[in-house]
Amino acid sequence: MESGAEQRVALVTGGGEGIGAATCLRLAQQGRRVAVMGRSRDNIARVAAQIETAGGVAMAVQADVSDRAQVETALAQVRGQLGPVTILVNNAGIEDFTPFAEIDDALWDRLMAVNLKGVYIVTQAVLPDMLAAGWGRIVNITALGAQTGAPNMAHYTATKGGVTAMTRSLAVELGCKGITVNAVSPGFIMTPMAQRAIDMELFAAPPEQILASYPIPRVGEPLEVAAACAFFASEEAGYITAQTLGVNGGCCP
Ligand SMILES: NC(=O)c1ccc[n+]([C@@H]2O[C@H](COP(=O)([O-])OP(=O)(O)OC[C@H]3O[C@@H](n4cnc5c(N)ncnc54)[C@H](O)[C@@H]3O)[C@@H](O)[C@H]2O)c1
Repeated sequence: MESGAEQRVALVTGGGEGIGAATCLRLAQQGRRVAVMGRSRDNIARVAAQIETAGGVAMAVQADVSDRAQVETALAQVRGQLGPVTILVNNAGIEDFTPFAEIDDALWDRLMAVNLKGVYIVTQAVLPDMLAAGWGRIVNITALGAQTGAPNMAHYTATKGGVTAMTRSLAVELGCKGITVNAVSPGFIMTPMAQRAIDMELFAAPPEQILASYPIPRVGEPLEVAAACAFFASEEAGYITAQTLGVNGGCCP
């Protein structure tokens, strides 16, 4: 646990499963008070309970990150119960595999609304707490596919490229306020999202074949991404901003 920082409140979006859930647990281990935000009441309640059982402090708050009113209501609950939020992990995201020619406006808009506008909405809602504290850590989850390209994912990778660019711009804007903004870019991480894609055979090649080409030829674990998020969120990372850290088994050097 970090000395002097035990009381900081961390908000993790999409915290009920996968990378978000692992990040909630990791931040709680560091002594953070954790607000687990997500759409599924059961999932976020389970993660919050897991943290409390381990002796940490957590609360579950239900909100769709693409809905500003829901996010503001949830944040009011977090401030009331845990206090101002000075650590934010923008993790919530949805994926889709559709050939570019078949993407329609509704699908395009839905991915933009959750993956890109959601980061804008939640960050804007939390920012006053960080500005008041003169201290903040924002960690945005992007994706390897936005760097390498990924077939049938032009809409998804466009959202993640947008998040990467927003990360840099916010870092430049907020650095002088004591707020760092960084991105973590996962590769192939075993989560419910990845499992769905495997089950539906949506990847361009069999997962074993994709992973065999990586310098570290295995799938990544959610906790390995969570560790990178926790580092960027730590007190010691105060001189690191505008960076993207790949957690991707070395793909693609
Ligand atoms: N798993 C991977 O291999 C991988 C690779 C690259 C990037 N990512 C990114 O990592 C992040 C987490 O992915 P994951 O694999 O853990 O996904 P996941 O689907 O396993 O979990 C994501 C969680 O976010 C929640 N969520 C989705 N839309 C939401 C919304 N509108 N509001 C609030 N919560 C919402 C879901 O309910 C779910 O609990 C995503 O941004 C994803 O794009 C994942």
